[in-house]
Amino acid sequence: MLRRLLLYLSHAAWADWMIRHAPLARQMAERFVAGETADDAIAAIRALNAEKINATVDHLGEHVKTSDDAIRSTAGYLLILDKMANSGVEANVSLKLTQLGLDLDEALCLDQMRKILARANERRIFIRTDMESSLYTDRALSICRRLHREFGPDHVGIVIQAYLYRSENDLRTLIADRIRVRLCKGAYREPPKIAYPSKKDVDANYVRLIRLLLDSTADGLYHAIATHDEKMIQAAVEYADRRHVAPEQFEFQMLYGIRRDLQRRLVAEGYRVRVYVPYGTEWYPYLMRRLAERPANLWFFLSHLIRR
Ligand code: FDA
Repeated sequence: MLRRLLLYLSHAAWADWMIRHAPLARQMAERFVAGETADDAIAAIRALNAEKINATVDHLGEHVKTSDDAIRSTAGYLLILDKMANSGVEANVSLKLTQLGLDLDEALCLDQMRKILARANERRIFIRTDMESSLYTDRALSICRRLHREFGPDHVGIVIQAYLYRSENDLRTLIADRIRVRLCKGAYREPPKIAYPSKKDVDANYVRLIRLLLDSTADGLYHAIATHDEKMIQAAVEYADRRHVAPEQFEFQMLYGIRRDLQRRLVAEGYRVRVYVPYGTEWYPYLMRRLAERPANLWFFLSHLIRR
């Protein structure tokens, strides 16, 4: 119930305004968000790199309402790409297509992606499009395929969500097209008609999809397994061992501020780890999804407030 409520609130404009202006919420956001500026993001990436952890940076924002906002988002990405290249940090970029105008006009969104990819190519930086709710899955896949054809392999990748019934088919097609994939469980509110409602089934599907991903590394594909779930990580490690997939043939990914102990442990064990580093002022929906994943976070902050 609470998860559903938090996910509903994540796209309610009135709640966005109220929560973004509440001091406690800002404090909560600081746990999951690296800061508000591109320089804050670079500082967070440097700190991760110092611990041999790579990063993928997200300039927060989604569902822009005007083409000017989409163009401003693009400018934000061009800026961070330049800063990443100039500072020499080890990182790539994650972005959302609705931040680049997918809700307004697919052609506008494609145009923004082309500008970002052209700069990223100059800077030799990989771009991954996050996967948003199922309203966008078909369009996100088709845009990614198109850009992959235009820009060539290893410049653009996508995300697959294990909670969707369709994901195994999507993943097989992406692998056949040689597109790099990040596998996650899925963070949006989806109906049982299209998504597994129980965690047990999502986890079982996640393990099935891990196997497909790891098998495809034999053809030189490089994918990401994005989870904080130790059972999923263990399943990946065991399958990789069994199939002789070396640790440098794939990577684990986790979110900024979540399970830092596990991030460090995997690095110490010789695995590649990349942390998703979000920054910017548009942190509200991102924060709500993080609370929905683990409502205990909400109780933790509320009890902290009461004790003060
Ligand atoms: P699960 O939810 O089962 O959690 C396992 C354990 O991890 C928990 O018991 C807890 O210890 C810890 N944990 C998980 N979430 C936490 C939180 N918010 N706070 C504190 N602890 C937490 N989704 C999507 O739909 N589209 C996308 O593009 C992406 N992109 C993405 C990138 C990266 C790098 C990651 C790690 C995740 C995403 N996600 C995503 C989010 C993903 O779909 C999922 O919602 C979260 O990763 C939580 O699921 P877990 O796999 O961690 O397992």
